[in-house]
Amino acid sequence: MPVQTQLRSADGMLSQVALAVDAELLAVPFFPGPVAPQAEVASYLSFTLDEILALHEAKGEPGEIVATPIRLGEGVRELLLYGVGDMSPSALRRAGAALARRGKGRTTMVAGVPGDVAAFAEGVLLASYEFKIGEPAKKRPLASLVVMTEAGPEACAAPLARARVVAGATVLARDLANATSQDKCPEWLAEQARKLAADNGLTIRVRDEAELAAGGFGGLIAVGSGSPRPPRLIELTYDPEDASKRAAGGAPAKHVVLVGKGITFDTGGISLKPTDNMKTMKTDMSGGAVVMAVLGALGALGADVKVTGLIPAAENAFSGSAMRPSDVITHFGGKTSEVLNTDAEGRLVLADALAYAAAELAPDLIVDIATLTGAAKVALGLKHGALFATDDALAGELTEAGTASGEALWRLPLTEDYRVAIESDVADLANIERRGFGGGAIMAALFLREFTGGIPWAHLDVAGPGRAMSDEGELSKGATGFGTRLLLNWLTA
Ligand code: BES
Ligand code: MN
Ligand code: ZN
Repeated sequence: MPVQTQLRSADGMLSQVALAVDAELLAVPFFPGPVAPQAEVASYLSFTLDEILALHEAKGEPGEIVATPIRLGEGVRELLLYGVGDMSPSALRRAGAALARRGKGRTTMVAGVPGDVAAFAEGVLLASYEFKIGEPAKKRPLASLVVMTEAGPEACAAPLARARVVAGATVLARDLANATSQDKCPEWLAEQARKLAADNGLTIRVRDEAELAAGGFGGLIAVGSGSPRPPRLIELTYDPEDASKRAAGGAPAKHVVLVGKGITFDTGGISLKPTDNMKTMKTDMSGGAVVMAVLGALGALGADVKVTGLIPAAENAFSGSAMRPSDVITHFGGKTSEVLNTDAEGRLVLADALAYAAAELAPDLIVDIATLTGAAKVALGLKHGALFATDDALAGELTEAGTASGEALWRLPLTEDYRVAIESDVADLANIERRGFGGGAIMAALFLREFTGGIPWAHLDVAGPGRAMSDEGELSKGATGFGTRLLLNWLTA
C-alpha cells in the first residue's frame, strides 16, 4: 500500500488554518515540566490546557495524546494535545506516529510541530502503513496533514518532500517483504526491480540461472537448486554522473556497492526448519527489498554518489534437487565452501555477490544487509541491527546515520580468534562454525568477510529489527523495511 497521506505546510494561527482547511483534528504539542502549552486554541475551551493535562495526569512523553472536544466555527472538532518529550527527532517521530494512529479514518489534521518536521512527518507516514490482503483496512490513513512550524512553510518544503521520499521507500521495502512467497519468487523480485528501474532512471541487469551457472555463481545456483523457481542476480545502478555532473567536469563520485540478501522463502532446505521458525521466512529477502528501495529513492533525494545494488535472489526450498549437507560449492571467483547446514544459505548467496562486487565493480565501499542469523536476534533483540565492519570510519558513519534516522545499530566484533571455527577439511571454508564457540552472528560475518577482497566493508545483520511483532511507534506489524532510512541518510549525508 503506497503512502496515502498528503503533506502540506501552512502559516498563521493554528485555529484559523484549521477552519480554512476544515480540519477534524488539531494537534498541539505539550512539553514535560512546568512549561505551559503554547496554544492560542486554549481560548476556545472552557478549561485551561493545564487543567486538562492535570486531569489526565499527562506527562508530555512522546506518543502520549490527550484529546478534548473543541468548538471551532460551525462544528465540534477534536483537539489533540500530544507529548513531544525532549523534542528530539526520535521523540517527534514517535509523536507523529501516535497522531497518525489516532487520525485513522479522519480526513484532515493540522499540527503544530516544535522542531524537526521531517522526523515528525516520517512518523506520521510510516505509522499509517498497514499490510493487508483482500478487504482493505476499515479505517483509511489520514488523508491530509497540514504542519505548522515557527520556521514557516518555505522552510518546511524540503524536509517534507524528503520525508515523503524516505517513507515511500520504506513502505516499498515493507510491501516487497510482506508479499507472500506464492507470488514472490526470484523472477518476481527481478520484475519488481525492472519496474523500479524504469520509474527511477536506474540501469538494470538481471542474470538468469543459465548466466549464473556460466558466470560461476555457484552459491546462488546451489541454494536455488531445490526450487522449481530458479535464482536471479539483480544488479541496479544509480549513477549521478550519467548526465550533468560528468559534463561539468566535477570529480568522480564515490562508488558504493550495496548487497541485499534476497531469499524469497527460507525453508532451511534439507536442514529443514521447524514450522514455527519457518512461518516468518517470506521476509528473508528483507535486505534485498531495502537495497531495491534505497536505489529507487536516491535520484529523488539528489544523492551525489554512484551506487550499485546487488540482490542475489533464490528460494531455499526442500526437495530432491536441493543441495545437501556435505556438498561443496564453488563461489564466484573460485573460493569453495562446504555446506554443513543448508539453512545457513544466506551467506552462500551473499558470498557470490560480494566476490563479484569486489572483483568486477571496483567499489570504494561495500555494505551488505541481510536477515542472516537468529543469533543476531538473540543477541540484540528487535530494536538494534547488528553492525560488523572492517573499517572504523565506515562503522562510525553508519552508526551515526542509524541514530539520526531512528534505526539503531550496535557494533559487534569480527573476532580473529574465531576464524579457525569456519575452516573446512575439504574446502576453503565451512558454512557453519565447527568448534562449538557460539557467536553465530560473528561466525556468519567472518564467513562473508572472506569474499570482500580487502575493500572497506560493513555488514548489517537485521534478523531482529527486520520484523515487528506488533504495531508500535512508526513500525507496523510485519516487515519493517529496517535499514532503508539509515542507508538513505548515510548516502545523502
Ligand atoms: N534466515 C535465517 C535467519 C533468521 C532467523 C532470520 C530468524 C530472521 C529470524 C537464516 O538463513 C538461518 O536460517 N540462519 C541459521 C544459521 C545457522 C544454521 C548457522 C540460524 O540463524 O539458525
Ligand atoms: Mn536459513
Ligand atoms: Zn535465511
